[in-house]
Amino acid sequence: MAEVPASNFPIVLIGLMGCGKTTVGRELSKLLGMPFLDMDTIIEEQIGKPIPAIFHDEGEPHFRALETALLRYLLNEEEYHGAGAPIISTGGGVVLREENRAILRALGFCVWLNVEVPTLIARTARSNNRPLLANANRRAILEKLSAERGPFYEETAHLRLDSTKMDINTVVNHIAAAVRDFPGEDGIEA
Ligand code: S3P
Repeated sequence: MAEVPASNFPIVLIGLMGCGKTTVGRELSKLLGMPFLDMDTIIEEQIGKPIPAIFHDEGEPHFRALETALLRYLLNEEEYHGAGAPIISTGGGVVLREENRAILRALGFCVWLNVEVPTLIARTARSNNRPLLANANRRAILEKLSAERGPFYEETAHLRLDSTKMDINTVVNHIAAAVRDFPGEDGIEA
């Protein structure tokens, strides 16, 4: 494959649980030669326990506060902008807070991986690390989250990719092409 230039601003992947943020992020990271950061993983390392334990012990509001603190850090640290800019995979609920949505848009090129609920149900079937889907009717929960969060993803995204039927290479190439047309950090609105 031809060499594809890295962007000098972060590429931020948003969307519901199971939409492929981590998988796409890793592939994009290889294609563009940009570092890959997963917000959930950083928070788990910072707190020293997995996400379900954080939700159980500290509660969801505390987890949401950790997400906001991490976003502020990523926005303000110079190392994440310019030559070392990363691909950032977010947690599905990161768009819930208004402050987060503003930071995400200011942070980098935001891509919404918009995937239909039946596919999300299939993709999350075997995971046991998502507290919001534990012991629950996954279809009902994912339909509810999709309805509630859809407008927030729409508001936050610079690019909406309806990727339900796309294979991983198509998704990654599409994002890489769109990034080339993006005006860059000067053009990113706060
Ligand atoms: C959440 C999604 C999860 C994780 C946490 C809450 C959500 O991340 O942040 O379980 O509110 O949708 P993924 O979207 O990577 O599964």
